Amino acid sequence: MSDNRVYLFDTTLRDGEQSPGVSLNVHEKLEIAHQLARLGVDVIEAGFPVASPGDFQGVQAVALAVKGPTVAALCRATRNDIDVAWEAIRGAERPRLHTFIATSDIHLRYKLQKSREEVLEQAVAAVRYAKRLTPDVEFSAEDASRSDLDYLCTVLERVIEAGATVVNIPDTVGYAVPDEFGAFIRAIRERVPNIDRALISVHCHDDLGLAVANSLAAVVNGAAQVECTINGIGERAGNASLEEIVMALYTKKAYFQREVGINYREIARTSRLVSALTGMVVQPNKAIVGKNAFAHESGIHQDGVLKERTTYEIMSPELIGVYQSNLVLGKHSGRHAFAERLRELGFELSEQELEKAFRRFKDLADRKKEVTNEDLEAIVKDEVWAVPEKFRLNYLYFASGTRLIPTATVGISIDGIVFEDAGTGDGPVDAALHVVDKLTGLQGKLLEYKLNAVTEGKDALGEVVAKVNVGARNYIGRGVSTDVVEASVRAYLNAMNKAIFDIERGQAGPRIDLEEPVEGDTALGE
Ligand code: KIV
Ligand code: ZN
Repeated sequence: MSDNRVYLFDTTLRDGEQSPGVSLNVHEKLEIAHQLARLGVDVIEAGFPVASPGDFQGVQAVALAVKGPTVAALCRATRNDIDVAWEAIRGAERPRLHTFIATSDIHLRYKLQKSREEVLEQAVAAVRYAKRLTPDVEFSAEDASRSDLDYLCTVLERVIEAGATVVNIPDTVGYAVPDEFGAFIRAIRERVPNIDRALISVHCHDDLGLAVANSLAAVVNGAAQVECTINGIGERAGNASLEEIVMALYTKKAYFQREVGINYREIARTSRLVSALTGMVVQPNKAIVGKNAFAHESGIHQDGVLKERTTYEIMSPELIGVYQSNLVLGKHSGRHAFAERLRELGFELSEQELEKAFRRFKDLADRKKEVTNEDLEAIVKDEVWAVPEKFRLNYLYFASGTRLIPTATVGISIDGIVFEDAGTGDGPVDAALHVVDKLTGLQGKLLEYKLNAVTEGKDALGEVVAKVNVGARNYIGRGVSTDVVEASVRAYLNAMNKAIFDIERGQAGPRIDLEEPVEGDTALGE
C-alpha cells in the first residue's frame, strides 16, 4: 500500500446495475468485468449474490474468470447473506466480503427498527463472521453521512477491532456537500483511535450532482478508496463517476498529489461498453465521455485549438482513447485487414467470432461506403457480445406507407430451424415485433425504445436500444443496421434471447431488494 495512492473500487456491476431498469446477465457482467480489469480498477464489486440465483452466478463467473483486481461481493450483516456472498467469490484470486448495515437514526428507527446498541452488535458480529472466511473484509455504514458522528466513530472503531480492513462511509442519499463531507472524513480520521489499521473509503451518490466533488473532498481529507461507477450510473441519480474522478486527479495532479493505477486509454471504450450493455445512454454534454466533451463549436474556440490545443483543452482526447482518425475500411478490405483493425481496437476474438463479425462487416460494407471504427465496434458488440442466439434473424420484409396497413414478414431461425410468419401493426416496427412474439412464443412488452446514429451521414448505422419486459424481468436489447426496422428487430430479438436464456435456466424470477428487511436471520454469534 502506498500513502499517496487512491484505490478505485468500481461498483458498476452492483450499484450501477441497481439503476432503474438495468439488468445484466452473466455474459454481460463478464464482458464488463474483463474491461474493468483492462481499465485497471483495483476492486470490482461484482454484485449482491443473495439477490437472485442469476446475481449469484454473475458474481461467481466474475470471481472465477477475472484476474488482477480484487473481486468484492455485497452482503447485508447477516449470516446467510455473508455465506452466500462467500460461496460466490471464494474462487477469486483476491476475494473481498463487503458487508453493510445502516447507522443513521432515521434508518434505525424506520427501516431496521433496531436500537443503536443492537446495530453496533450486529455490525461487529458480521465483520467477525466474515473475517473467519477471508482476511479482506470491508464494512459499510449505510447512510453514514446522516449518522451521528460519535456513534458512527464507535461503530467504526469496533468493526476495525473485529477485523474490517476497509471502512466505507457512504453518502447514501447524496445529501452531503463537499466542505462538510471533507470535514466529516477528517473527523473520522482524527477520532477513530485504530483508523490506521483500515483504509477509509467513500461512496457518494449524486442526488445533488455533488458525488464527484464530495469524493474528491474526501480524498483531500484522507480517504484512500473511492467507490464509483462507469458513466456515473447507479441508484436514482447515480454514483460518483469513475472517469470524472480519475481525470480530475490526473489533470489536477499538482493539487491532489495522488496516484491511481488506471490505464487511461481504456476510459472511452469502457464507457461505450457499459452504455451499450446497460442501455443507459450517455448524455452528450457528460464530462469526459460525452459525445461533445471534446467538440469545439464556436469559431473562436476552433481557431484557438487549431493554433494551440491547450487554449481550450485541459486534457487530450487521445489520452482517454477517443478515436481521432476514424476512416478505416471499405468493401474491398479483406479478412486480414479486418482482423488487424479489430486487434488495434482492443478486441480479442475467437476464429468463430471473427468469422461472424467479418460476415456482418461485408454486409455493411455493401450498404455503406466508409466503415469507421465506431461502425466496427457496433458490429462486434452486436454479433459477439450477445447471449447465445437461440433466435436469429434470417430475413425480414415489410411494406409501409401513408395509405397502407403496415405489414411485416419475418423469418427467424430457432435452434437452427427457420420459421416464418407475417402480421400487421401500427407501423413496420410494430408489425415485425408482433411476428417475433408469435414466432418465439414469448410475450414481450416494449418499455423503452431509443434510436441513435452510430456515425454521421445518411448511410449511418442506426443503433436501437430496446427495453423489453418479459415476465418478471426487463431486458435490454441492442441491434444495429443501416435499416432502422431491421435494427429494431435485432434489438428486440437480442432482448428475447436474454429472456429465454434466463427462462431455460430457471432464472427469470424477481430479485430480492437490497433494502428488504431480513426476517429472523440476524444470528451471527460465535
Ligand atoms: O449507497 C450505499 O449506501 C450503498 C452501500 C450498500 C454501500 O450502496
Ligand atoms: Zn450506493
